[in-house]
Amino acid sequence: MKRVRIGSLEVSALCLGTLPFGKYVDEETSFAILDRYVEAGGTFLDTANNYVFWDGGTGDESEETVGRWLAARGNRDDMVVATKMGARPRTPGGGIEDCEGLAGPTVLAAAEGSLERLGTDRIDLYYSHIEDRSVPLEDTLGAFASLVSAGTVREIGACNHATWRLERARAVSRANGWPLYTTVQQRYSYLLPRPGVRLPEWGHVHMTDELFDYARSEGDVGLVAYSTLLSGAYRDKPLGEAYDHPGNTRRLAVLGEVASELGATVNQVVLAWLLRKGIVPLVGASSVAQLEESLGGIELELDDEQVARLDSVG
Ligand SMILES: NC(=O)c1ccc[n+]([C@@H]2O[C@H](COP(=O)([O-])OP(=O)(O)OC[C@H]3O[C@@H](n4cnc5c(N)ncnc54)[C@H](OP(=O)(O)O)[C@@H]3O)[C@@H](O)[C@H]2O)c1
Repeated sequence: MKRVRIGSLEVSALCLGTLPFGKYVDEETSFAILDRYVEAGGTFLDTANNYVFWDGGTGDESEETVGRWLAARGNRDDMVVATKMGARPRTPGGGIEDCEGLAGPTVLAAAEGSLERLGTDRIDLYYSHIEDRSVPLEDTLGAFASLVSAGTVREIGACNHATWRLERARAVSRANGWPLYTTVQQRYSYLLPRPGVRLPEWGHVHMTDELFDYARSEGDVGLVAYSTLLSGAYRDKPLGEAYDHPGNTRRLAVLGEVASELGATVNQVVLAWLLRKGIVPLVGASSVAQLEESLGGIELELDDEQVARLDSVG
């Protein structure tokens, strides 16, 4: 599989999301998906310390499943493991309104919990999962910095942040001689929600032109996109009200056109297009067959004219 860089880390061009593992996807299937991903050259796993706390889960399930798989396969050193903190409920059974947030001591304690569940001594990429404006950035980033200097964390990143907060956070880190957020993980796909619409999924923050401008100007901010397949809506699920607008009707038409020229699926064209934009696609899969389709997207080559045609649709 193609390789890309995220900060100091070399990762496979497709990142595998493990959110449903151990909760909606049983262990045997989760292991089969992980095995196939590695066989295809995948190295970049995404989890969090709150997958999946809703629907009666605890939030431990995904990290624990990944941990058991890493132990069973003995391949920890071959994988780049990203996890997140900040959006785990403080109390078991609690809701997202009660999430732990980004206070320094919470960051340190959350890292301990993730290391234990993952059965590892380091987190390759550690994200703040959400913003927490109730806490000074110095508090959060000082804790992240201490994890990096202890060798517990290799790179840090931010999810679901406004671009101005990202810039402020990086300025604070720079001023203190601390490591900077080098990765931003936000929602993004080829179809776009209506401008200004509130996404129904709690906490999801979409990539913006401002973020792209910022990442280009800084040169050291890697972008990872989640919900790239719109949870299956390119294939067989409803798109949802936020995505229901004429611009997306035009975008779907061009996507279909390019997919049929290439003998590819629409999902695959979306992933290939994201890669051409310099964005690492993160995908979910609940079966090996779904992953197989996404793997095909990473190998797909769009020519410049196809990229320009996809980009030209407003
Ligand atoms: N940072 C954040 O705040 C954040 C937020 C959300 C997600 N994430 C990360 O991103 C990962 C992916 O998130 P996501 O699940 O929202 O994204 P997604 O990749 O857009 O959706 C994955 C889902 O799409 C369906 N799917 C995938 N391939 C398919 C195929 N070939 N045919 C039909 N359906 C297909 C499956 O749904 P079914 O299982 O229903 O079949 C699959 O579970 C998560 O695991 C997590 O690691 C991060």
